[in-house]
Amino acid sequence: MRIDILTVVPELLESPFNHSIIKRGKEKGLVEIHVHNIRDFSTDKHKRTDDYAFSGGAGMVMTIQPIEAAIEHLKAQRHYDEIIYTSPDGEQFTQGIANQLSLKGNLMILCGHYKGVDQRVREHLVTREISIGDYVLTGGELAAAVMADSIVRLIPGVISDETSALTDSFQDNLLSPPVYTRPADYKGWKVPHVLISGNDRKINEWKEKQAYERTKQLRPDLLKD
Ligand code: ADE
Repeated sequence: MRIDILTVVPELLESPFNHSIIKRGKEKGLVEIHVHNIRDFSTDKHKRTDDYAFSGGAGMVMTIQPIEAAIEHLKAQRHYDEIIYTSPDGEQFTQGIANQLSLKGNLMILCGHYKGVDQRVREHLVTREISIGDYVLTGGELAAAVMADSIVRLIPGVISDETSALTDSFQDNLLSPPVYTRPADYKGWKVPHVLISGNDRKINEWKEKQAYERTKQLRPDLLKD
């Protein structure tokens, strides 16, 4: 998979993909992540990428020209399965969308900034608009990092223990059961006895019950489907 991220603040995305699991995915050749500075595509003599809104009011709007130039430059090189725009008014990102996108070949993510992009970018260039939650960030870069991280870890081979991604919270609309490691007794704080029983059937039953009970208590909305 290849992910191209378009931003006016590339510095914000210098680090998130250079550590741990995502870094290993890149090193294994399973994913490429490229960050592009929209400013580089501006034909304005001051390399501006924003302007005042026609409607007036506070806040700048990202102009069409550099965004279209950046998108067309990339599209000329390969087909993109989705061109995603990060915006608080997009569809809500979920594990289901991460699963779906992890099966794609090439993704582009356009990060909104200031008051967002000129609406015509959304109408003519973007194929999907996604929000990572009902709150407003200063820009779409952190949203893009969140999405890319959750998508990339689902690509087969990125997580070494293949089953691990399948037992994530939300994967079956259930939260994960609690996990414990050694020591089995820390100053009297004990691990549930079943987990050190060696009885796999009982352990699995315990995990399933815990997942269900935790979901019922903490996120009953997930059980509605
Ligand atoms: N940009 C600003 N806020 C955002 C959000 N919640 N999700 C995606 N992009 C955003």
